[in-house]
Amino acid sequence: MSITFENKTFHLRSSGSSLVMQVTSSGYLAHLYYGHALPDGDYRFETLAPVLPQGSFFPNPPQEDELVSLATAMMEYPCYGTGDFRPSAIAAVGADGSPAVDLRYVSHRIYAGKPAIPGLPATYAAEQDADTLEIDMQDHTGLVVTLIYTAFRDYPVITRSVRAENRGSHTITLERIYSSATDFPTSNYDLLHLWGSWAMERTPERTPLTHGGQRISSLRGSSGHIHNPFAALVEKDASEEMGEVFGFSLVYSGSFAIETEVDSLGQTRILCGINPDGFGWQLQPGEKFDTPETVMVYSDQGIGGMSRTYHKLYSRHLIRGPWRDRDRPIIINNWEATYFGFNEEKLLEIARAAAPLGIEMLVMDDGWFGRRDDDHSSLGDWYVDQNKLPLGLGHLSDELHKLGMQMGIWFEPEMISPDSDLYRAHPDWALQLPGRPNSPARWQYVLDMSRQDVQDYLFERISDILSCAKIEYVKWDFNRNLTEVGSALLPPERQKEVGHRYMLGLYALLERLLNAFPDLLLEGCSGGGGRFDPGMLYYSPQIWTSDDTDPIERLTIQYGTSIVYPPSSMSAHVSASPNHQTGRVTSLNTRGVVAMGGSFGYELDISKLSDSEKSEIADQIRQYHEYAPIIRDGSYYRLMNSHEAGAWEIVSDDGKTVLVGYVSVLVRVVNVRILKLRGLDENARYLDPASGLVYTGGALMHGGLNLSLLNLRDREAVMIKLVRVD
Ligand code: GLA
Repeated sequence: MSITFENKTFHLRSSGSSLVMQVTSSGYLAHLYYGHALPDGDYRFETLAPVLPQGSFFPNPPQEDELVSLATAMMEYPCYGTGDFRPSAIAAVGADGSPAVDLRYVSHRIYAGKPAIPGLPATYAAEQDADTLEIDMQDHTGLVVTLIYTAFRDYPVITRSVRAENRGSHTITLERIYSSATDFPTSNYDLLHLWGSWAMERTPERTPLTHGGQRISSLRGSSGHIHNPFAALVEKDASEEMGEVFGFSLVYSGSFAIETEVDSLGQTRILCGINPDGFGWQLQPGEKFDTPETVMVYSDQGIGGMSRTYHKLYSRHLIRGPWRDRDRPIIINNWEATYFGFNEEKLLEIARAAAPLGIEMLVMDDGWFGRRDDDHSSLGDWYVDQNKLPLGLGHLSDELHKLGMQMGIWFEPEMISPDSDLYRAHPDWALQLPGRPNSPARWQYVLDMSRQDVQDYLFERISDILSCAKIEYVKWDFNRNLTEVGSALLPPERQKEVGHRYMLGLYALLERLLNAFPDLLLEGCSGGGGRFDPGMLYYSPQIWTSDDTDPIERLTIQYGTSIVYPPSSMSAHVSASPNHQTGRVTSLNTRGVVAMGGSFGYELDISKLSDSEKSEIADQIRQYHEYAPIIRDGSYYRLMNSHEAGAWEIVSDDGKTVLVGYVSVLVRVVNVRILKLRGLDENARYLDPASGLVYTGGALMHGGLNLSLLNLRDREAVMIKLVRVD
């Protein structure tokens, strides 16, 4: 890891990747290179990024400059309206009314460590683990833009964010301010991204880049089910385990956009950040604005190599607090067991059946507050429903703890039901636009999280609940998206700020709660995995992956989620069969094997199960305790996800244990099943304690495990453990 500045050229090196840029004679910051780490050397236009041809439709900069034309040059942070016709990273309206920006280099600083981003989640690093470069660029309006880069010592990771400051004497309105822009000299890439919908989140899609623009985005005020704030450029001939891949992951949970553009010369630009649509931000003289962070990962080991870097980075430098390094509790959640129809006795019946099997925590889901017998009312009224819990939360929690279990509780803090005491008292607390009725979704509106009084109310209600009983876990849900995004407190000229101010308010509340309750385990949720993003992971080390708990469906959902997110972040539960979403029948074993691909738990009425099912659950739990540290800290390999089977592998950090999950989805008459493993030591020997067979790593990786003999039928699964024996 190093950052140097020689002959007006910056060279940032993380372990495995380099980014090179050059200050030109008239102060532009030109992009020269991003990719595999380069050795020390003399890097400039002539040796790394020769200037491309130009003509009358490619304007020259006002001063003679080695760039020749901003319309063809690779730019580090391209500006709107001053000669670069491709999508720009920044547009800002100054006193002259134009959104044009022209940024020129002023100064820079290089230092050890990584700064936090005020008010926003971000990766973190100790001084010895990363170096940071800040480059100040200035426009004649007094707009100073600081480009902030951090290179990590142990990972091929470079993070980027941007700070804008108004050092002029007039208001400047930011119309777009992306967190990163990255130019590549070719378009020899496919675009990989994760799309989906409710109950079908994060399906990988790989398509060729096309001339002109492609865009992955959300306008929902949330990252959303439909697109994830992630995209990768994958070299045409790269695959799961081979070739070059460039990942871009945005640490943000609100409306985002990732745009690509291939220009007429075949160059590619990719931009990531807050969605410019509907966004605007006024900077008064002296004010600053910080963007979220883009995490750029370079891999020369295919998509899998990129994923493993994201997994390690997010497990160790994004997830924080005591739960980063601790085994998560094995949970039983009552949602699919009871839905809204429960009382204390029913919950305790479930707990009494669960505790002896080793389940460690009962999570009481939606319905414990207000008059919440269905989803038509009461969000915002965070007071216990005396009909369901006449003895209060303290009593329920005491009874659970007497059984040796911890307690978790469900909240949906950002919401307000029109039918609630809170809404009757404070209709102005909902997001709203003057003269327009609010659009309901699931009979609820969204609170205006940009308001301090709303944040204070929620802090007071949630801390009150968490203090009145021993509650170790909160499931933080979010079951609709934002519409009529306006705040009753802000003037008209600031209404375009509300979407981002909402996120700042949410993050501030989460931060305040975690400071007050540092041991609290938060699980994120949004109608399943509708807000499964790095921003939320900073606060909640695990997120409910999907409302679809069918193990066969989950194979694809967990496969896609693992493209960016570590297995420990994917909350995965064994639910009832037939499955409530699909009606599909699967064995308890199959449901267990699939749920063990993430942070494990149960979500069914365990009190209704037979003794043999209960003893199978006790076995699963014993197994999971052994596997949990491997799942949390190990290296994850996606082996397959086809209509015939799904398979994955986790190799423990010390290389001594290998877990392989395999699910036979559809049996064929000719049913040869060979599974080649990855990430082993060729020459080491691995024992399968179940069969007594010993394999070499080479045989497992190149010959493969022959699973044909197991004769697995449709929807049957197996979890294989291998132990290194020399
Ligand atoms: C969302 C969640 C579910 C459950 C319900 C409760 O849909 O994803 O797990 O908590 O809300 O209303």
